[in-house]
Amino acid sequence: MKQYDLELLKIGKVYPGGNVAVEAFDLQVEPGEFISFVGPSGCGKTTTLRMIAGLEDITSGKLLIRGKDYTHVPAERRPTATIFQNYAIFPHMTVRENIGFGLDVRGIGTEEKRRRVGAIIDKLHLGDVADAKETSLSGGQKQRLALARGLVTEPDMLLLDEPLGALDANLRKSIQEELKLLQRSLNITFVFVTHAQSEALSMGDRVVVMNAGRVEQISAPFELYTRPKSPFVARFIGRNSLFSGTLAGAGNDRAVVETPFGPLQGTPAFQASEAKSGSDAMVVVPSEYVEIDGAGSRAADTSFDTIDGVVGSIDRVGQLAYPTVALDDGRSLRLETYADKIAGRGVEPGGRVTLRWRPARATVVLDQQPSA
Ligand SMILES: Nc1ncnc2c1ncn2[C@@H]1O[C@H](COP(=O)(O)OP(=O)(O)OP(=O)(O)O)[C@@H](O)[C@H]1O
Ligand SMILES: [Mg+2]
Repeated sequence: MKQYDLELLKIGKVYPGGNVAVEAFDLQVEPGEFISFVGPSGCGKTTTLRMIAGLEDITSGKLLIRGKDYTHVPAERRPTATIFQNYAIFPHMTVRENIGFGLDVRGIGTEEKRRRVGAIIDKLHLGDVADAKETSLSGGQKQRLALARGLVTEPDMLLLDEPLGALDANLRKSIQEELKLLQRSLNITFVFVTHAQSEALSMGDRVVVMNAGRVEQISAPFELYTRPKSPFVARFIGRNSLFSGTLAGAGNDRAVVETPFGPLQGTPAFQASEAKSGSDAMVVVPSEYVEIDGAGSRAADTSFDTIDGVVGSIDRVGQLAYPTVALDDGRSLRLETYADKIAGRGVEPGGRVTLRWRPARATVVLDQQPSA
């Protein structure tokens, strides 16, 4: 049987008082994977992470680490370390003392402690501030200190709850890269919670999208973006064009949705046998796959699906152009294209245009929930 680093088997959490925070959460993590959890505020990300860490009781289901049942094992006996958003640094201790603290608690001897603390200070470039206290550290240094405190215990798994939330945008970007490199060099599993979609997608080998205590989808970033399984994921991940309507028919690799723009097609995200014609459905087209042309400037090509609209404005940033197109249903879509792809094609503010894409690039999802 395959050995996973971490397995959540239908774990759930009901807080005292009856608040259901997490329901039937299933996840299998390969050794050395970088897993991101993303979802709106209150969807249960922190609760799930705290159940993995042993900081929160698990109400139902099972949690295995490397095949062993840890469901009811207390935090200090789990091979995990947790990094919180506020870092929980002791202000009266130096960087070196802060890092060593976790080893004192575990009864690690003086020599071994000196060696481990020294090694992690080098690894995270904290040498210059090793004897400084928290108040004199920069945001990035505090972040690295929090990581050092977690890693010095040599965990099998690092759990991070919005660890970059306190950093400004530029620092956040560079720490994201550092964190990813660090994870690769340590080769241990990271479970990383964020509510920023772009961060989840750029960091994770796989991304878990949560909504109201449940898992919506677990996929690699590209698949999550190009093949969402639900309207929630299609909207939440963003940058998609969405067309709602009713299902007109579905086969194994093609479904047709009747929309206000006429019939549009896509690859179904569901089993054809599960879907009834007439159900609410949505065609999802990643913006990158949409081409734009002056209306009627190209002979009709039946291998594309098309809709018409009117160009509002066109923002230009270097080689890229971002036309905003008003559709006949009153919505407007912002598209991304190369400036030279639309040059001389009648794509001008106020001009009527045709948007087209290959149906195989589109996905059809069933709209079972009431839309938010
Ligand atoms: N100690 C608690 N007692 C009761 N309910 C709680 C407790 N902690 C969290 N909850 C509830 O559980 C649900 C999930 O909360 P959780 O903190 O896991 O969400 P989150 O996804 O981490 O949100 P955020 O992005 O805001 O951090 C919420 O409805 C929240 O109000
Ligand atoms: Mg949280």
